[in-house]
Amino acid sequence: MTTPKLSIDRLAIRFHTPDGGIATILEGIDLEVAAGELVVLLGASGCGKSSLLNAVAGFNAEFEGTIRVDGRTVREPGADRGVVLQTDALYPWLDARENVGFGLKLRGLTKRTRDERADEALALVGLAKHGDHAVWQLSGGMRQRVSLARALVADPEILLMDEPLGALDALTRELMQGLVLETWQRTGKTILFVTHGLDEALYLGTRIVVLAGKPACVVRDEACDFGRLALEQGLGPRIKSVPAFAAARERLRAAIFSGAE
Ligand SMILES: Nc1ncnc2c1ncn2[C@@H]1O[C@H](COP(=O)(O)OP(=O)(O)O)[C@@H](O)[C@H]1O
Ligand SMILES: [Mg+2]
Repeated sequence: MTTPKLSIDRLAIRFHTPDGGIATILEGIDLEVAAGELVVLLGASGCGKSSLLNAVAGFNAEFEGTIRVDGRTVREPGADRGVVLQTDALYPWLDARENVGFGLKLRGLTKRTRDERADEALALVGLAKHGDHAVWQLSGGMRQRVSLARALVADPEILLMDEPLGALDALTRELMQGLVLETWQRTGKTILFVTHGLDEALYLGTRIVVLAGKPACVVRDEACDFGRLALEQGLGPRIKSVPAFAAARERLRAAIFSGAE
C-alpha cells in the first residue's frame, strides 16, 4: 500500500480553560489523506477545525496522537506543508514577487532563482503581470492569490488552507473557489481545506470530512465529485444549483448540527 500523504492517528487536542480546567476540543480523530485528494474539513464555527489544521501545520505541538506527512512524524512547521490562512500574512514593504519568494530566500536560493520560481507560482494563480505590485495595490482576492502562490512556490507535499476565502466578498469568493479547483487540478497537489461553508465544501472537495460534537470527532466522511463535474462539464459555480447539490447540502447541514448521524 502506498504511504498516505497525511495520516492522523488518535489525535486529541485539549486546552486549559480560564477557570483552571481543561477543555477537550477534539478527540479520537483518525484521518488518512491520499496523494492528490482535496479533502475539505467542514464543521460549525468553534468546533476545532483550526486547532486540527494548526496541529498538522506544526504551529501547535500540544496534542496527543500522531500526525505524519509522507510517513514522517511532524511536530513543528516544515517546507513539506504550505499554509494559507484567512488573513494574508504578506509583508507590506515587499512586492508580490518578493513576498512569494521570501521563504526561498531563507533557504539560501539566489535572487534569480527566487524570482523565477516566484513568477511561475504567480502565473499559476493568474497574477503573472503583478509581480512588481506592492501589497497595497492588490485587492483582497489578489492578496489571497499571492498567499496561495507563496504556499505553492516551495512545492510542498500538502497544502493546508484554513478558511482562505472567508474574508472575501461573495463574488470574489466564488471566483477564488474556481481558482483553487483549477490550481488543484493543474498541480495535482494534496490539499486539506478548512471551511464552515456548505457550498464551498461541496464545490471544492473530492472528499468531505465533517467534524461535530463536543469534543468534536469525525461524524461523516464522504466522497464528493461536484467540483470535478463542474470542471469537466464547464459548469463552474452553476453546479451549485443542480438538485443533487442541494440535496447533498441538506445532508451535510444535518450532519453538522446533529453531531452524529
Ligand atoms: N490556544 C487556545 N487556548 C484555549 N482555547 C482555544 C485555543 N485555541 C482554540 N481554542 C478553543 O478551541 C475551540 C475550537 O477553536 P477553533 O479550532 O478555532 O475552531 P474553528 O476553527 O472550528 O472555528 C474554541 O472553543 C476555541 O475557543
Ligand atoms: Mg477556524
